[in-house]
Amino acid sequence: MLNLPASLVACFLLCFTSVRATYQYPDLQYDALEEFLYEGTRPDGSSMAQLVTPCKLRGGTNTTVAAEWLRLVYHDVATHNISDGTGGLDGSIFFETDRSENVGAGMNNTLSDFSSFPNKYLTRADLIAIATSWAVATCSGPIVPFQGGRVDANVAGPFGVPDPSDSLESLTANFAKQGFNVSEMIQLVACGHTLGGVRYPDFPTIVSPGADTSDTVVDLFDDTQTFDHNIVSGYLDGTSRDPLLVLNQTMASDGRVFGSDSNVTMQSMNSADAFAQTCVTILTKMLQTVPSTVTLTDEITLLPVKVSTSAVQLTVGTSELQFQAAVRVTVANSTTTTVTMYWCDRYGDAANCASGLKRFAASGASATVSSPTSQAMGVTLEKYKFVVPINANQSISKFWFEIDYGNGTTSTADNGGAYYVVDQDEVLWVPSMSQAKSVLTGVSGVTVTAAVKNTSTPSRVYMDCFGRATTDYIAANATYDLTLNSSIPAVAGYNFYTGTATFDYGSSMSFDLYSVAENGTSYVDTYRQAGLIGVALASTSTVNSTTSSAVGGDSGAGTARPVDSRWAVGALGLVSLWTLTYL
Ligand code: HEM
Repeated sequence: MLNLPASLVACFLLCFTSVRATYQYPDLQYDALEEFLYEGTRPDGSSMAQLVTPCKLRGGTNTTVAAEWLRLVYHDVATHNISDGTGGLDGSIFFETDRSENVGAGMNNTLSDFSSFPNKYLTRADLIAIATSWAVATCSGPIVPFQGGRVDANVAGPFGVPDPSDSLESLTANFAKQGFNVSEMIQLVACGHTLGGVRYPDFPTIVSPGADTSDTVVDLFDDTQTFDHNIVSGYLDGTSRDPLLVLNQTMASDGRVFGSDSNVTMQSMNSADAFAQTCVTILTKMLQTVPSTVTLTDEITLLPVKVSTSAVQLTVGTSELQFQAAVRVTVANSTTTTVTMYWCDRYGDAANCASGLKRFAASGASATVSSPTSQAMGVTLEKYKFVVPINANQSISKFWFEIDYGNGTTSTADNGGAYYVVDQDEVLWVPSMSQAKSVLTGVSGVTVTAAVKNTSTPSRVYMDCFGRATTDYIAANATYDLTLNSSIPAVAGYNFYTGTATFDYGSSMSFDLYSVAENGTSYVDTYRQAGLIGVALASTSTVNSTTSSAVGGDSGAGTARPVDSRWAVGALGLVSLWTLTYL
């Protein structure tokens, strides 16, 4: 066997476990879940990951944001009834915080953290699951894998969160109802109570007030804020400070739970590795505790090279078309990666790269993106953004990227040989000519401007709006028509249509923009983000052209390279192939 550098071995593991063989752009749900999980942001760039990273304390307290998030997820899960398949991680907690079983500022803090981030493809329940994985990872814990597909409840679920005063029989029966046996109950409570603690104002019969009673006093479960096995070792060696163990014995539920199998389970978790491994397994099961009507997706793994559907935009600028795309690349820290975007015309002599003509541009500045999950994986994710002018007579049919990792390795990101296709240019959203209605009237809503090709008169232009980040937590959607706005002069062969969505769909509202041609053909500019409203694109790169057959594009006089989709994912993938061959 060859003696390989550790980085290559790590890459081997990463590359083979992280590439989903069947993934192909565009996959709107996968794209949205993957982007949120590994980049931590919603499509307009606002970051939820920053609220918790790095294992941040909650302002005004000595507990962490991560602890508050982890408690919330369990309180949502605790509504599960395994015998009839109802309840579980379904976001019903959003409607349950007025219950005494959900007492505490931590609950409302958390709901406020989460409120603006759910979107069309990220349900509130999936968001809670991702937040759980981040909470554990950012406090030095292991990575809990994430699967998506949870469906939101729009009403409160049954009561049923365990209380510290419950007897062991009642606690055991309650966990059994949720689908956890005795040793799983012990594991789950230990993996939860490694973070945070118990507050004075919430549980005055357990925790005493501090010297200043206006303070929020959190009596921590163990001496660290990190996700570690101190909760277990302290219990076993008798040095625990856990307030649910050593203070008011009527309220000592941790004592009753931890000792319920004569310490067998606690002993099996009494090392850093065993604790981490056990917690990954039991927290994964907790996140899979969903109503029986829900089917979860496969694990959402990191795509080594990723094009965000929400960031791909063909639009109309002041005198011509503009095209924006972003590609995220898993880069090596030690070298400088450069990325070039190539594309084919849609019309004219070089349509679809006929006679081998491709246009290309260098990227603008790149930005590093991360979440607790990608940080814990130790990967560096760099996002390269492109904004290029496009002649409307040529337009654009498909694009792809050549990546130079700066270490002698290059690769092509061309969506497994299918390229990234721009499927239509008949109807285009124009963010720079759209605005939040509140700017005009103080009333919620957005005014959207669409550019529609003036070669035909559409029979209808309309938008389907969708919002999940609503004030009442209930997803909303509606359709609004756009009408020809003759006060805006045509640009580059496009007329402009405007329409207003009058409901407040929340900060992560998205919409699909349709134009129906006279012959009935429908065109759609899909999954546009109202959060990007008002943004005028500044072209970042000069456009060049080449007829080189080495850069893909297919129509290069029959000399297109063969593409194996498994290896078209980036340099790491290529190194993996090499690693596999020589191991
Ligand atoms: C026997 C079952 C359980 C009981 C009786 C219980 C009880 C409690 C109590 C009384 C608090 C203090 C809350 C406050 O002061 O606001 C607390 C905090 C917490 N619980 Fe549990 N819990 C149980 C199970 C779990 C489970 C299964 C998890 C997660 C897997 C969990 C995670 C947490 C976390 C992270 C905190 C700290 C919150 C913070 O610092 O803000 N608990 N628990």
